[in-house]
Amino acid sequence: MKLSVKDLSSRYSSIKGPVYAVEDVDFVLKDGESIGIAGESACGKSTLGLSIIRMLSGGKVQGENFLDDESILELSEPDFDSKYRWKKISMIFQGAMNSLDPVFTVKNQFEEVLKQHNFQGNFDKTIKDAINSVSLDEIVLKKYPHELSGGMKQRVVIAMALLLKPKFVIADEPTTALDVLIQAQIVNLLKKLKKDGMSFMLITHDLAVLSEIADKIGIMYGGQMVEFGSSFEIYKNPKHPYTQGLLKSIPTLRGDAPTYIKGIPPSLLEPPTECRFIERCPLAIEKCKKLPPKFETKTGYVQCWLYEDEKLSN
Ligand SMILES: Nc1ncnc2c1ncn2[C@@H]1O[C@H](COP(=O)(O)OP(=O)(O)O)[C@@H](O)[C@H]1O
Ligand code: SF4
Ligand SMILES: [Mg+2]
Repeated sequence: MKLSVKDLSSRYSSIKGPVYAVEDVDFVLKDGESIGIAGESACGKSTLGLSIIRMLSGGKVQGENFLDDESILELSEPDFDSKYRWKKISMIFQGAMNSLDPVFTVKNQFEEVLKQHNFQGNFDKTIKDAINSVSLDEIVLKKYPHELSGGMKQRVVIAMALLLKPKFVIADEPTTALDVLIQAQIVNLLKKLKKDGMSFMLITHDLAVLSEIADKIGIMYGGQMVEFGSSFEIYKNPKHPYTQGLLKSIPTLRGDAPTYIKGIPPSLLEPPTECRFIERCPLAIEKCKKLPPKFETKTGYVQCWLYEDEKLSN
């Protein structure tokens, strides 16, 4: 499934005023491609995922979002629900493994999801297929959430998102809060699912996790996607000073000490009119007092004045 997001902006209303959580995000994924979304906390990653699947509560979304060639933001709620949501595109919500209902078995919870979606096929077979696809034994279906380890719970919520066999899954921080070994198992599981034909939008604050799954990477900072491109280019030749900082903050096997970006991201209540990274940027120049536009790169774009001269950008 092709996904084209254009000028997507999402805003929440809060008692302190509007929160500009996502602003003017653009990217295109070809059929079968997966994207990794990385950036610090509160920079708009979850909001972007929720906006794409039209599940943003307390917020408004503007812009364009095409699945294949259909503009899904224009579809009525029942049309989007019957045609796309969970069937073609689904989401593993941030922290979902902690929201499994403690009083129902895993099987009951799967059945409930199928009922909610008015599923007309064979419940048992569909549930078994989903649980097998995440490499869990069917015995898990009889268990209650408290009887499962963290890794098993995360597999269960992944299986839930796969129940109606979507082609594209938005996975919001599926490895956060798991220990390192379990994280690696979940990453391997996502890799296996990708091999089986699934595409992902994998959201994480940990850029290292993305290298194995993402064909494309989008770096979010202060509500904007400040760099987008092929994951090969972003790892080999990161352009935005923030992307460079994020990559330097990953510990390496060689034992090089990671360096961290000093400071904190700007508030999205009243985001600055200058480059949003200016306060933390080691390369800021006078021009950065104006918000930079997106400059085209070999495989995407970068929102930074340093690449105004096209020859420099490639
Ligand atoms: N329901 C909401 N109402 C108001 N502000 C929100 C709501 N959800 C998130 N925000 C704000 O929107 C911004 C982006 O949040 P989020 O998308 O959750 O970031 P991330 O997933 O990158 O941590 C943050 O400033 C956050 O405080
Ligand atoms: S536009 Fe300026 S302040 Fe912003 S990231 Fe680029 S160099 Fe740094
Ligand atoms: Mg989040």
